[in-house]
Amino acid sequence: MSVNSKIYTPYTLPCGVSVRNRLVKSAMEENMSSAGNLPGSALYTLYRYWAHGNLGMVITGNVMVDREAMTGPGGVALEKETPLEAFERWAKIIKSNGALAVMQINHPGRQVFKNMQGKAIAPSAVPLDMGKHSKLFAQPREMTCADIHEVCQRFVQTAKQAEKAGFDGVEIHAAHGYLLTQFLSPLTNQRQDEWGGSLINRARLLINIVSQVRAVCPKNFIVMVKLNSADFQKNGFSFDDACEVVNRLEALGVDVVELSGGSYEAPAMQGQTRDNTTLAREAYFLEFAQTLESKTDIPLMTTGGIKRASVAEKVIGQGCELVGLASALAFTPDLAKKWQQEWSYSGVIPDCTWRDKSLASLANMAMVRRQLRRLGNNLTTLRNPSPLWSLLLDLMHRKAMTKRDVAANKRHRENSTI
Ligand SMILES: Cc1cc2nc3c(=O)[nH]c(=O)nc-3n(C[C@H](O)[C@H](O)[C@H](O)COP(=O)(O)O)c2cc1C
Repeated sequence: MSVNSKIYTPYTLPCGVSVRNRLVKSAMEENMSSAGNLPGSALYTLYRYWAHGNLGMVITGNVMVDREAMTGPGGVALEKETPLEAFERWAKIIKSNGALAVMQINHPGRQVFKNMQGKAIAPSAVPLDMGKHSKLFAQPREMTCADIHEVCQRFVQTAKQAEKAGFDGVEIHAAHGYLLTQFLSPLTNQRQDEWGGSLINRARLLINIVSQVRAVCPKNFIVMVKLNSADFQKNGFSFDDACEVVNRLEALGVDVVELSGGSYEAPAMQGQTRDNTTLAREAYFLEFAQTLESKTDIPLMTTGGIKRASVAEKVIGQGCELVGLASALAFTPDLAKKWQQEWSYSGVIPDCTWRDKSLASLANMAMVRRQLRRLGNNLTTLRNPSPLWSLLLDLMHRKAMTKRDVAANKRHRENSTI
C-alpha cells in the first residue's frame, strides 16, 4: 500500500465535520506552558510542527479544568474567567494548514504530585499505590456532592471556552487513571451514594459532563471521549464495563471514542499491564477496538504503540475510523508526510530496557517530553536520546516548573482572598 491507503482518505464525523485524513495526533502533556498556565511561544512553536505535518486532527495535551488541580507542573489550565487570547492563537496555529483542533480537557483527581501543593480530590479517599513511589503523590480527600457538581460545571465551562477560542471540539479525558476514570473504577470509587456502586452510578459524572457539553456547544462542535478499554488491574473497570459506557455515550451523540487503557498504577498505555493481560506489540488496544466495533456504531480511534504506516492501515481496516499517534510524533512531527513519501518509513517510540519497570517507564516519558521541549525551542529531534540524561533533564525542568506554578498559585490564592 502507499499514498492511496485508506489512512489518507477523509472521514465525516457524526456532528457533520469532515476530517481530511485518519491520522490524529493524540494528547501529550507538554509541561511547557507560559506564566499563568497559558499557552505561549514554546507551545506555539511545537504545534506549528504538527500543524504542518499533514495530520487530520491535532488533539492538545490535556488542559486542566481547575488550575489548582494539575496533572503536572507547567500544564495548561482553562477556566471560566481565563482570558482567551492565548488560546485563540493556539487554535489558529493548529488549524493553519487544514487540521482540526481538538482540546483535551481533564481533571487529575487523586493523580496529583504532592510537591505541587494543589487540590487532590477523588470519589473515595483511596491513595495511589505506586509502591516505593506512592509518597510522591498527595492523599486525596473524598469529594462531596457539591464538589462533584462543581467539577461537572468546570468541564462544561472549559469546553465552552474552548469553543469560543476557536477549537473545533473537545476530548473529555476519561482514561489513564484521572478523575473520571477514578469514578468509573470500583477500585477507586467506593461510594455508597448515587455516584458509586453500579456502573450506571459510576459513569454518572462522565455522562452528565458529556450531555451538558453537547447541550451548551453548537451541533457541529466535536465531542470526543478518551476511555480505558480496561484498568488492567484485578477487579477494576473491565472491558464489559467499557462496552456498556460506550453504548451510553453513543446515545448522547459522542463523535469518537478513543480507546486506551491503564493508569499510573498500571501503565497499559505504554504497553504494560498489572493483571497479566498481554497487549499487542504495536497498536496495543486494537483487539479491544475490534470486539467493541461489533457492539457499537460510534466511530472508534485507538492509540498506543503505532509508528508504522502498515500498522496504522491495519487499525483503520480492523474496526477503527481514526488512528492515534503520540510518541512517534514527538520524534518525527511530520510522520504523516514521511509515510506518504516512503511507506516503509518507521517512526520511533522509545523503549527503555532498564530492569526497574517503573523507572524505565518514567525514562520513556522523559525521552518523549525532551523531544517536545526541543521542538518547542526549534531544535532538531534526536533519534536515540540517552534515557538517563533525558530523565535528569526532565527532573530539572519539572522542578523549575513546579517552583513557578506553586508560587503563582500562592499569589493567585492570596489575591482572590483580598
Ligand atoms: C509525554 C507524554 C504525555 C502524555 N500526555 C497525555 C495526555 O495529556 N493525555 C492523554 O490522554 N494521554 C497522554 N499521553 C498518552 C498518549 O496519548 C498515548 O495514549 C500513549 O502515549 C500511547 O501512544 P503512543 O504509543 O503513540 O505514545 C501521554 C504520553 C506521553 C508519552
